[in-house]
Amino acid sequence: MTKNFNLESLDKDYLFHPVTNLKSHLTDEMLILEKGEGIYVFDKDGKQYIDGLAGLWCTSLGHGVSELAEVAKEQMTKLGYSTLFSSKSHEPAILLAEKLIEMSPFSSGKVFFGLSGSDANDTQYKLFTYANNKLGKPEKKKILARKKGYHGVTVASASMTGLPNQHKLFDLPKEHFIHTETPHYFKEGMDDETEADYLVRLTKSLEELIEKEGAETIAAMIAEPLMGAGGVILPPEGYFPAIQATLNKYDIPLIADEVITGFGRTGNAFGSETYDIKPTSMTLAKALSSGYIPISAVIVNDDLFEPIKEASGDIGVFGHGYTYTGHPVSCAVALKTLEIYERDKTFDHAKKVGEYFQNSMKDILVEDYVGEVRGIGLIAGIELYKDPSNKIAFEEAGKAGKILSDACQKNGLIVRPILDTIALCPPLIISEKEVDEITDKLKKSLQEAKDEIMKVH
Ligand SMILES: Cc1ncc(COP(=O)(O)O)c(C=O)c1O
Repeated sequence: MTKNFNLESLDKDYLFHPVTNLKSHLTDEMLILEKGEGIYVFDKDGKQYIDGLAGLWCTSLGHGVSELAEVAKEQMTKLGYSTLFSSKSHEPAILLAEKLIEMSPFSSGKVFFGLSGSDANDTQYKLFTYANNKLGKPEKKKILARKKGYHGVTVASASMTGLPNQHKLFDLPKEHFIHTETPHYFKEGMDDETEADYLVRLTKSLEELIEKEGAETIAAMIAEPLMGAGGVILPPEGYFPAIQATLNKYDIPLIADEVITGFGRTGNAFGSETYDIKPTSMTLAKALSSGYIPISAVIVNDDLFEPIKEASGDIGVFGHGYTYTGHPVSCAVALKTLEIYERDKTFDHAKKVGEYFQNSMKDILVEDYVGEVRGIGLIAGIELYKDPSNKIAFEEAGKAGKILSDACQKNGLIVRPILDTIALCPPLIISEKEVDEITDKLKKSLQEAKDEIMKVH
């Protein structure tokens, strides 16, 4: 029997939405999705959309992958839950940890599982704290992050995040979290400043911050290879080798937050490869299971693991872990996801289609309110400006981005507006023909939204 209900009014009555304007939500139009197939999703009325952000930067294999559903069913039937506490273990977690080390830039190391990018970054903070206490460096506690960086929403990870709306009224960031400059040449570079000069300025500013805070107080720096939720911001040429040289000088390890960039997004397995990053530890989530089931991972190198192991021996237990750390169903689905990536050469495909995608996105620059199109592999950001040639942004930040993203949605393309940047991050399995569909819908939307956007101050 079909129950007669109105999903939209039930949603407004009962659901507490994350990262939403909770007030305007009560009167705003909503999008209620029902199913997906490949790069497409369908709403409850059957309208088709391209899932232009792969859900939330995660559904790398697209929708409706029955192999993932089957493996979840098999694992649930066989062993639906088991813990990794107190030396208990199980095959899916063991094999997944082994596979991740094999794929990662680490020649050896250990893998700690969580459920989200946020809890994994919280784990990162705790691991460095724990290790430094054992190493007799109790003052080495601060995490150095970047303005506009995004690392999640738990107390520690939101403190790493450098976005004001994640801090306001939450009394964040907490003590121990500091932020250096956003590396965005197009926006932050000064007139007549070359990209190389800009990089020198950025590195100098990082060094000044380290000196001001005291290098001996900084446990680690955390950085996304490219900033995703901060607006798809790509580092200037040579950025990571330059800042890592500075960090090395002060004995500050680097945490690579690969929650978006991990697993083929930038055209290589990891963004660390694309941008020549040498991390001490790495955070993974999202495409680790193609977004089908919650799972995250922190990979630590042997140097970081060693003092943690020793300290836990002194205390009698390593006092950190979740009920769902290494959940067998999550691990089985992740393992299958990695197997599919390998079998279908998904990362090679993403690299090839990524080049096509980036070329197609450049066509968008012709519109007279598009200032910058940036991207790599299968991720892109299109930033709207009031006056692009003079790099004058809209005063009413966010309005133009919302108008364009609404137009895209009306035309069957889901994108994410990040203030006035439109973010695109389609499933890695996208074909060139489907990229053309994105480009066509985007161009149509840019034209249709033009008059309204031109009126924005
Ligand atoms: C780079 C990065 N780190 C961490 C997170 C937080 O992950 P989660 O939303 O799974 O907690 C995100 C989420 O988008 C992210 O992009």
